[in-house]
Parts: sequence; C-alpha cells; structure tokens
Amino acid sequence: MGQLQERYKNYREPQKYMEAGVYPYFRAITSKQGPEVTMGDHSVLMFGSNAYTGLTGDDRIIEAGKKALEKYGSGCAGSRFLNGTLDIHVQLEKELAEFEHKDDALCFSTGFTVNSGVIPAVVGRGDYLICDDRDHASIVDGRRLSFATQLHYKHNDMADLERVLQKLPHEAVKLIVVDGVFSMEGDLAKLPEIVELKHKYNCSIMVDEAHGLGVFGKQGRGVCDHFGLSDEVDLIMGTFSKSLASIGGFIASDKDTINYLRHTSRTYIFSASDTPAATASALEALHIIQNEPERIQHLWDVTNYALKRFKEEGFEIGDTESPIIPLYVHDVEKTFKITALAYEAGVFINPVIPPACAPQDTLVRFALMASHNQEQVERGVQILKKIFVEQGVIK
Ligand SMILES: Cc1ncc(COP(=O)(O)O)c(C=O)c1O
Repeated sequence: MGQLQERYKNYREPQKYMEAGVYPYFRAITSKQGPEVTMGDHSVLMFGSNAYTGLTGDDRIIEAGKKALEKYGSGCAGSRFLNGTLDIHVQLEKELAEFEHKDDALCFSTGFTVNSGVIPAVVGRGDYLICDDRDHASIVDGRRLSFATQLHYKHNDMADLERVLQKLPHEAVKLIVVDGVFSMEGDLAKLPEIVELKHKYNCSIMVDEAHGLGVFGKQGRGVCDHFGLSDEVDLIMGTFSKSLASIGGFIASDKDTINYLRHTSRTYIFSASDTPAATASALEALHIIQNEPERIQHLWDVTNYALKRFKEEGFEIGDTESPIIPLYVHDVEKTFKITALAYEAGVFINPVIPPACAPQDTLVRFALMASHNQEQVERGVQILKKIFVEQGVIK
C-alpha cells in the first residue's frame, strides 16, 4: 500500500454518517435552483441556497448567457492578462466599479480566488493583516498566502480589535479584512466602529460583500453602502455566485490599487478568465437588481416574516440581521439528523459544523430568496418546528 493510501485508509468520518443514513452532502439537484427544486423524484423547498435575489432561473439571464455562448464560444482559453479578455469582461468591470462607487474593478473567475489572490498581493512582509475570527475560508486562505504578520480578533468584538491594533506601529501598513455579512450566522460586521478604529490607528479596510451584495444598501450595493461607508472602505470584494446568479467575483478599489492588482495578483493573472456565459449572466443580473428594487424589497419581506416566525416558535437564531437565519442545534450528530429529517419532510437546509463554526455552535442554516413566498416560508417553519421539537432542541 502506498504512503497516501496508508494515511487515508482510516479517514472514515463521512462513511460513519452515510451508514447512519444522515450524510447531507453532494445531494444532486435535477432542476433550476428556484424556491422549490426537484431531486430525482423528490420535490423540496429550497432554503439552502445563496441566490438571495432569486435570479438563477430568470429567463433574461439565461438568454444573456445563451447569446454570449453563441457569440464568444464556451470558454476563453486563457487568463485575462493574455488572451482571455473579452469586451464583456471590461464592461462588467466598469459597471461594477460604478455600482460600488469606486474608480475601477477587476473580475476574477470565482469569489474564492478574489480573496486568495488580492490579500497576499496587497499586504506582504513588514505589513499586518488583521481578521475577524469568523472570516470566510477564502479570506483565511488569502491570509495564509500572505507574508504579512497575521493577527485576529474575537468575532465582532471591537474592544479586542482595538487591543490588537494598539500594539502595531502607526506607520506600518495594516489591513483589516472582514465579511460584511457573516455567511453562517447572518450577522453584520460592525463597520462604523471598524472605520473609527481605522482612523485612530491608521489602517486600511477590505470588506467581503459575498452575502451583502443584492441584499443590503441602495440597489443592493452591499453592507458598505448600507452603512454609508463605501468611501471609507479601501477594497470592496463581491461574488457573482450568490445574488448575481452566475459564477465569478470582483474587487473594486481606487485606480492605483487596481492597477497594481491587475498586474500582480496571481489568481487573476495565472487563472483562466470567467466564461462568456458566466460573464454575460452576471452583467444581466447586475442590471436587473438595479432596475427592480421591488425584488430586494420582497426578499426583505419574506426575511422579516421568517425571522418573526422562528422567534415566535422559540428557535434560537443568534444575532442574525439578514436573510441567513441560523437555527442553533449545538450538537453535530443532531445537526445531521435534523438536516436528513428535514430533507425527507421536503425542506432543503444546510448543516453547519466545525470548521465552519465552533464545535459547540452547530446549526442548520435557513436562507431566503426573493423568489420565496410567505406560504413557502410558513411551510418551512412548520416542518422544522416539528422536527426541532421531536429532537428535543426546542420546546
Ligand atoms: C463570505 C464569502 N466569501 C467568499 C466566498 C467565495 O465565493 P465563491 O463561491 O463565489 O467562490 C464565499 C462563498 O461561499 C463566501 O461565503
């Protein structure tokens, strides 16, 4: 037996849950990702999606994707740096920069590669990188790739952030990186306080708007706009994989920082560009969210309804202020069991276990889309209530 086979033959954690019939991953969906999806012959309510604006099945976006596929072909066969730039990439970057009130923007092939490529490019040896304990894995990986000194503070604890910043040299480059909306718990970064600390301690700020875009701020610009602080945030990052109904990501900033990143960020230069269909779809989605404010309003109507109902029914939902509603379970095995029972009863939700959360904080994540209606939300609440009571998580 080879070295690797020898090492991994005992990795049987997933098999344990498969044998118990509660393995919750890689469940194949056989339809578009709408508020109800089919999974083979099973129809389920989808509360596990990140498509907050509910646009992944929108005919206009599909049409835009089809047209781009026909015009430009299926792929770009190279990176943006060399042969992979299309006019629609340039147009999307221009429109995203305007949308975020920044000078310029760059599109990457995923949101993950924005964080893993931008962070190590902007801060290096002699600099400091300061992250919230619950920042997304892509920020963690970007941090790992940077030669900057790495520091972190307790989740959303501004006193702890200040404790970290106090010790750092005033003149050194210091970048604070936070999720605008925390992806598992749904709470927001304390941006106003972070901006105050930025000025007090001479820092820069990068905000990940993966879950803020299409949800918060004017026309869905995100959490920075929601707080009226876009000008104070040096780097705004977003993805196309959630509210923009596609795949890809972007960074928006001032013209000099973008010029530097355009020529140095490794995941931008050494990775193939977004497909034509993905780029055109994101562009169309960006137009739709700007032109249809009622879509975001409806997302908030169903979100507020769900928040109210989960609270009334006695669920523990933490500090969420967004369409991401964590339903705390506090037990790994039970989290898997509840996910499986919900699926059987017709509700798709996602289990959140370590390393996505602390071992004592496991939860199932219930997320809303603008395409949900109140009746679907109510059905979801009722089904989950029955299961949570049966499992002894709530009364
Ligand atoms: C906060 C956050 N940042 C970045 C990403 C990565 O984005 P993408 O899936 O578009 O690569 C995600 C995806 O889950 C995320 O939740």
